[in-house]
Amino acid sequence: MKIVVTGGAGYIGSHTCVELLTRGHEVVVVDNLSNSAKESINRVEKITGKSMDFFKADLLDKNAICQILSRCRADAVIHFAGLKAVGESMTMPLTYFHNNITGTLNLLSAMARAGVKKMVFSSSATVYGDPATLPITENFPLSATNPYGRTKLMIEQILQDLFRSDPQWHIALLRYFNPVGAHASGLIGEDPRGTPNNLVPYISRVAIGLLDRVQVFGNDYDTPDGTGIRDFIHVTDLACGHTRVLSKIFSSPGLVIYNLGTGRGFSVLEMIQGFERACGCTIPYEIVPRRPGDIAACWADPSRAKKELGWEAVRTLDDMCRDTWNWQKKNPHGYARL
Ligand code: NAD
Ligand code: UD1
Repeated sequence: MKIVVTGGAGYIGSHTCVELLTRGHEVVVVDNLSNSAKESINRVEKITGKSMDFFKADLLDKNAICQILSRCRADAVIHFAGLKAVGESMTMPLTYFHNNITGTLNLLSAMARAGVKKMVFSSSATVYGDPATLPITENFPLSATNPYGRTKLMIEQILQDLFRSDPQWHIALLRYFNPVGAHASGLIGEDPRGTPNNLVPYISRVAIGLLDRVQVFGNDYDTPDGTGIRDFIHVTDLACGHTRVLSKIFSSPGLVIYNLGTGRGFSVLEMIQGFERACGCTIPYEIVPRRPGDIAACWADPSRAKKELGWEAVRTLDDMCRDTWNWQKKNPHGYARL
């Protein structure tokens, strides 16, 4: 199959390209490199020994996207491209709505025009807001507390309306929990620009000595050690979920929704301890007030994906920490500044 991967130079996209190429798919990456480096494409080719087509293009450039889609005769699109920083979305909401929503609308029109009606969309567990109970199933009520989350929710609704209007569309909405880790080769991984907002990249930069100490946002939550609990999932497990869901949407039409998580939560302190085991050093941390907007705990019920896709996450917390550390050690400054 020929798969267009928007945002394929980014963190989850690059890992998914590896899994697609390994399984014999042809891959066409479309990315404007606004939050990634072209070097990730070279690394994916190095890992797999296969090449991909790469177009540096912006989803906001409707003509460019139409041309790419009409020329490349793809079978499906996996749509990762989007802006994803929650804090930034609160200060730049219009940029987020324009990039994520208009970009998706342009992509969908280009797909419709080219007759490509199969799409896998990167949604997020953020669409569950602050869940009343755990674990979270796909039927839980949906809400958004920030513009980033609202773009995910709105795109889910757009895709549902599109499917209702034309059942020839085959659509998968994938709600990721907390992707972490890196490819086992250490050649590709997460490369946030500036100071990381997310926990694991932050810990990793403390471990390598680029940052002083981790700030633990609150130890007064109603959790066993008082710190927040999340369902951290290895990015390679997540990437494999995409190849399974592609098979599903090729074999049966419809709109499907899956949680991609492990089904198990770990606390912030457990993650710091896991990283200490991986790097063999002490990770200094301090307890600071809660981060506004954070929830106490969040983990998935991933049983629908297991039952319908035959997919489940197999990598452990120690695998996630080991692979993050391997990537960080080999690429202390990420891709761009080597
Ligand atoms: P990322 O920033 O590493 O990758 C996104 C890619 O999209 C980047 O390479 C960026 O350059 C590209 N891009 C952004 N806007 C574009 C545009 N207008 N045109 C073309 N390319 C554009 O992020 P990621 O962590 O790989 O996330 C991928 C997707 O998964 C995003 O949609 C994100 O919202 C979603 N998601 C991520 C997480 C996470 O924790 N990483 C969790 C849940 C959902
Ligand atoms: C965040 C986003 C979420 C997005 C997800 C993946 C917020 C409020 N939520 O989720 O919408 O889908 O990233 O991109 O930004 N923590 C610390 N110190 C740190 C960083 C984090 O203690 O320096 C804690 C947090 O309080 C939380 C846990 O670590 O308990 C995980 O945080 P993070 O990695 O930012 O992910 P989420 O907040 O779950």
